[in-house]
Order: sequence, then structure tokens, then C-alpha cells
Amino acid sequence: MRRAIFPGSFDPLTNGHLDIIRRSCPLFDEIVIAVLNNPDKNPLFTVEERCSMLEEILPTLGIEGCRLVVDSFSGLTAEFARERGATAIVRGIRAVSDYEYELRMALMNRKLEPSIETVFLMAGEEYSYVSSTLMKQVFELGGRVEGLIPPLVEARMREKLAEN
Ligand code: PNS
Repeated sequence: MRRAIFPGSFDPLTNGHLDIIRRSCPLFDEIVIAVLNNPDKNPLFTVEERCSMLEEILPTLGIEGCRLVVDSFSGLTAEFARERGATAIVRGIRAVSDYEYELRMALMNRKLEPSIETVFLMAGEEYSYVSSTLMKQVFELGGRVEGLIPPLVEARMREKLAEN
């Protein structure tokens, strides 16, 4: 059983994240999409909302041969990966600018859990500029984000914006 975790804030989930999930599926039997519980970062969506969107959207991807599990965690990614019996941590790289931060994280995670490897996947070039932060910013200022985030996420963002 080859199990990986794909950790992140997913605030919100973007099509770039879904692209990485799709690309990592042939490599593993199970991927735990691990949503970081980070209340101090003042997220747009609660961890429960982020998990519930993932649970609604993932089955629509039509992925076969790889089990996708959604879970949340607090604390260290490396510790969560070990607890879940994962042998790999999946991270997406969009551009060279991601590399330095990702390298530092991968090396620290390896220091913490030497048996767990970080696997980097290159996001499709059409998502190379897509980040959750940018999506929130553009959306909040009334810009168009169609095709960059799942329609369900866009609808939930619209609801959030109306609430606030
Ligand atoms: O989606 P993000 O915000 O790029 O994900 C970053 C994440 C959640 C992978 C990273 O912040 C993380 O691993 N946080 C948990 C705390 C931790 O393990 N820190 C040490 C990593 S070097």
C-alpha cells in the first residue's frame, strides 16, 4: 500500500491543487488530502468548510485506482504523515520561485521524519500563476477567476463575500 499525504491550507482549493491531485494519483494507492487547521492565519474558510468542499469535489474528478481521503490536521506535517502511515508528502511546484521555500520545508520534514520522502510534482503550466492568495485577492476585488477555481468553490466564495 503506497500512501501519501498532500498537505496544504487549501484556502481555497484551486484548480492547481486538483491538477496536482490528478497527477499524483497514478503514483500512489491512497492520497490523504491533509487540510491544515490554521485558525491564527485568519482563513477565509473554516477547516470544516474546506474539507467539505474537497469531499464534494473530489468524487467528481472520476479518479480510479487511487483512494482519495480528506482529513484535517494541526501541528507538524511530518508527524501527521507518520501517524497516517504515509511514505511520501506530495507538494506541487509552480515556478522556480516556489523552489526555495519548498526545499527548506522538504529538508526540515526529512530531518523530522527521515523515512518520509517529499515528492514534488510540476503543476500544469496553465496553473503556474494560480495561488489561493491571489484567487482571494482578485475575487474580493471583483475580478474574474473562472477556470482557476472549481465552480463550487467560487459559489462558496461569493456566499462568504455576501456574509462579510
Ligand atoms: O498550502 P500551503 O499554505 O502552501 O501549505 C503549507 C503547509 C501546510 C504544507 C505548511 O505550512 C506546513 O507543513 N505546516 C504545518 C507545520 C509544519 O509542519 N511546519 C514545518 C514544515 S517545515
